[in-house]
Amino acid sequence: MGQGDIDLEDIDGVGPKTAQLLRSKGILSVRHLALFNPEELIELTDMTPDRVEKILRSAREAVFGTNRVSRATDLAKNLENTIRLKTNVRAIDELLQGGLEPKAIYEFAGEFGTGKTQLCHQLAVTVQLGQDRGGVGGAAVYLDTEEAFSPSRIINIARRFDLDPNEALDNIYVIKVVNAADLEDRIKLDVVKLIEQANVKLIIVDSIIALYRAEFRGRERLAERQQRLNYILDWIMRIAKAYNVYVVLTNQVLDVPMGYIEVKRPAGGNVLAHAVTHRLFLKKSREDIKVMEVLDSPRLPYKASAMFRITDRGVEDV
Ligand code: GTP
Ligand code: MG
Repeated sequence: MGQGDIDLEDIDGVGPKTAQLLRSKGILSVRHLALFNPEELIELTDMTPDRVEKILRSAREAVFGTNRVSRATDLAKNLENTIRLKTNVRAIDELLQGGLEPKAIYEFAGEFGTGKTQLCHQLAVTVQLGQDRGGVGGAAVYLDTEEAFSPSRIINIARRFDLDPNEALDNIYVIKVVNAADLEDRIKLDVVKLIEQANVKLIIVDSIIALYRAEFRGRERLAERQQRLNYILDWIMRIAKAYNVYVVLTNQVLDVPMGYIEVKRPAGGNVLAHAVTHRLFLKKSREDIKVMEVLDSPRLPYKASAMFRITDRGVEDV
């Protein structure tokens, strides 16, 4: 299925001039247009509210159809038939009931050195494998907020899976993100373009929280921080659903006092907790062994866990 299937000019209310305006702002297809809400489109284009309402309504109808009701049986069938993206670490794929599902947000939260970035690197490679080998034959976009991306790790992981290391690197688009506004622009425009034009199937944000913690400091700005975080997570979910792509976010942890001890909790508060679909907590075990535990998920059993190890070849079974 083509992602930019319908031309902008083909929908009601959009002539050559409006199409040109939209394209000049980075909106390249009707599917992309349908992701915007009226306020965002008015801000971006200076069109009148009436025109914007009309254009967005026809865009949504063209992309999502007019019938928005589905039977639960059909939904169940769809979920069963979705293609899972595997990490190719057997214990983790079993924990995730076959691998990652598309149209959902996976969060890997944990303290430093628990393997969050390594898992992201591995998925950026396995997404490129064919379906018979646990991939989906797609490319990845790596939104790097912590200077964490490492080409040499990709090369090692690619070799392990018999991929040409240069091709594997070519299929990973790295975007260095400097602040929250930058992340918003990159996701709303660049990431959608890469999905439509470069076969990107996996969105990685490593990490989602670092920028927000650094930029909105102190209690006074907490509400603003959470609002901005909520906004970007909502956009990521809109994209995941409209384009059937996979999403992985990494998150840091906070030490929360509980009586005499401190427990580690994912950062980002309720906003992040509600926005992610599957929340996975990573912990250190002994030596190079780590544990992934289900913290919150609509389908995976609470506290179920898997062990893995980080080696020169990436993330592996113990
Ligand atoms: P933060 O980003 O600091 O919060 O941590 P993280 O959870 O992202 O940690 P990451 O995924 O980067 O994992 C770091 C671990 O991977 C460390 O224990 C490293 O020793 C290990 N590691 C990284 N590269 C290699 C490698 O090439 N070989 C081996 N054997 N281990 C590696
Ligand atoms: Mg990291």
